Amino acid sequence: MGDMGVVVGGLRLKNPVVAAAGTFGFGAEYGEILDPARLGAVCTKGLTLRPRDGNPPPRLWETACGLLNSIGLQNPGIDAFIREELPRMREQGITVIANVWGNSPAEYEQAVAILSEAGVDAIEINVSCPNVSRGGPVGEDARRTARVVRRARRVCPVPLWVKLPPAGGIAVARAAQEEGADAVSAVNTFRGMAIDIETGRPVFANVVAGLSGPAIKPIALRIVYELAGALMIPVVGIGGIDDWRDALEFIMAGAHAVQVGTANFVDPLAAARIVAGLERYMDEKGIEDWEVIRGSAQR
Ligand SMILES: Cc1cc2nc3c(=O)[nH]c(=O)nc-3n(C[C@H](O)[C@H](O)[C@H](O)COP(=O)(O)O)c2cc1C
Repeated sequence: MGDMGVVVGGLRLKNPVVAAAGTFGFGAEYGEILDPARLGAVCTKGLTLRPRDGNPPPRLWETACGLLNSIGLQNPGIDAFIREELPRMREQGITVIANVWGNSPAEYEQAVAILSEAGVDAIEINVSCPNVSRGGPVGEDARRTARVVRRARRVCPVPLWVKLPPAGGIAVARAAQEEGADAVSAVNTFRGMAIDIETGRPVFANVVAGLSGPAIKPIALRIVYELAGALMIPVVGIGGIDDWRDALEFIMAGAHAVQVGTANFVDPLAAARIVAGLERYMDEKGIEDWEVIRGSAQR
């Protein structure tokens, strides 16, 4: 039997399947039906220095093969997370990646310093949320991204991943790499919208919302392929991964690991199912290490 484990930007995962930020809570919600410690890691809901109520409803809207969301980073804040969620996650044996968002480079720095001190296994800074910043996410601009990553890196002794938006391009990913990111996660949701034809008005108060799910998979795959070909640091593939075959495509595109998001809402067992599917695949093909097939599409 091959080794499902993988090291991604300094973080050792028991398998390459991670629950994506904002789609798995803090793992507790899923604890009744699956053991979250079975997954490579759990990415927390996006955390901010202070608690946030998020955006006004509606916050979710189904589209053909996809989901639009405008949650707006509702979360209990990092203090409550450290007090109430982190100890339980640790007890359950979950590998914890804290997803962090800030209003400014200084806020990112402060949040990263506190969280890495509190004993999370890694930090994923989210410079790609489409639902909270006017003028587009920081991660669509290489200079702004560099500033955030530099400040975060200075205070972050644990592995630091940077979660990119689909529209950032290679320049932004390179900026993250140059400032010391250990890995990039690609991608966050795509900016989309919906209109209520009864009122003639946008469905979401912010007009724009984030599109995820199977609808984005081929585009996310292309982005991951391009990033993996251009960067020295590992890429974590995200976008519309529904089963183990999707996960395998991302690995063959060059991803060291994958994250499963919207699929968790459709089937709470999705991430565990993907782990089992990859395990079977590895066994049947007699693959000893992910390295054998990682990036096969690049060669
Ligand atoms: C309801 C919802 C909430 C999300 N919240 C966050 C978040 O807090 N931080 C973050 O970095 N990404 C967040 N995302 C983005 C996902 O982690 C993921 O990058 C995106 O949905 C694409 O993957 P998928 O197609 O598998 O869902 C959220 C996505 C959804 C659908």
